Amino acid sequence: MSEVLLSQLAHVELFSPKPEETVNWMKEVLGLEETTREGQSVYLRGWAEWLHSSLIVTEAPEPGIGRIGWRTYGPGDAEIIAKRLDGTEEEVGWVDDWTGHGATYQYRSPHGRHLHEVFWDVDLYQAPEDKFDPAMPNRPQKYVNRGAGARYLDHITFPSPNMKGDIDFYKQFGARHTAQTEVEPGFTVFSTLTCNGIRSTHDVAIVPDFSGMTGRAHHLAFRVDQRLDVERAAEAFIAAGTPIEFGPGVHGIDEITYLYVREPGGFRIEINAGGWVNTMPDWETRTYQAAGGNPGQSIYRNIEAPDGFYTAWPLPPEEAADKEQAAIRDEKVAAFSGQKASPEGFIDG
Ligand SMILES: [Fe+2]
Repeated sequence: MSEVLLSQLAHVELFSPKPEETVNWMKEVLGLEETTREGQSVYLRGWAEWLHSSLIVTEAPEPGIGRIGWRTYGPGDAEIIAKRLDGTEEEVGWVDDWTGHGATYQYRSPHGRHLHEVFWDVDLYQAPEDKFDPAMPNRPQKYVNRGAGARYLDHITFPSPNMKGDIDFYKQFGARHTAQTEVEPGFTVFSTLTCNGIRSTHDVAIVPDFSGMTGRAHHLAFRVDQRLDVERAAEAFIAAGTPIEFGPGVHGIDEITYLYVREPGGFRIEINAGGWVNTMPDWETRTYQAAGGNPGQSIYRNIEAPDGFYTAWPLPPEEAADKEQAAIRDEKVAAFSGQKASPEGFIDG
């Protein structure tokens, strides 16, 4: 018997110290559509997304992420998860109703302490008449080519102080641990997971966290249709004055074409396309090696991410941040020269 309790990464709450600038960028440059404004939050979605919202921008003192929302695979699945977690340190509890979805069970991962929420009942996006195309009933609305024209939320990447512990936790709800990158045997610095049998890439990636903090995040990724759309997105970012942080390039693990930028609030956003479809439920985790060129990071094995790419949010206190960057630099030198690596590292996507 198999059990997959989650169907998709439905939404992520992004904290921004500059919420108006962030929301405007998400709409005009990334190409998302605004659904609702409520309190200190603005709800947005990609033009091809059926659910009410996939991104919730909430005002906060510094960048970071809040709620990570998952739609379950069917009615009653949230109750199954609740039954397993009730009374544990991971339990947060039920919320009767929320904007965009119904009864919701919240919990935290055991080590990263990221706040997840699961629900079955959802509000579907209803396009106004001028945005709806009756000839294309598989689409919630007409195509949008504004800015990067992001189609839908793809994945979230976050650090954890205990990657294996959190991966085991996520696997109990049906996530498959598809691949990992190690800098030395047994020391993993990147892992991909997916709860979805037909998604072409991961819905969660986990990297190590040595900051002593929890609940941090590295990036959110949005999807476009074609690899060339990523190059077009790069043009849109440059034209809008958004510097490119890393890419376009092709990661080796999922073979996705990637591009990373920072939105005005300071958080990292990825645009991607392409990749392959891993439909195998009995897939065994594959291991990539970081040393000597990192095919997980770049399929061409001739490029590495810039130092700032290892930043995650919220930032640790200044001294810790400096130490973290120095350790990452040392680690990269050690790994690429074949020396013994210390625990900091390589993020592949
Ligand atoms: Fe990514």
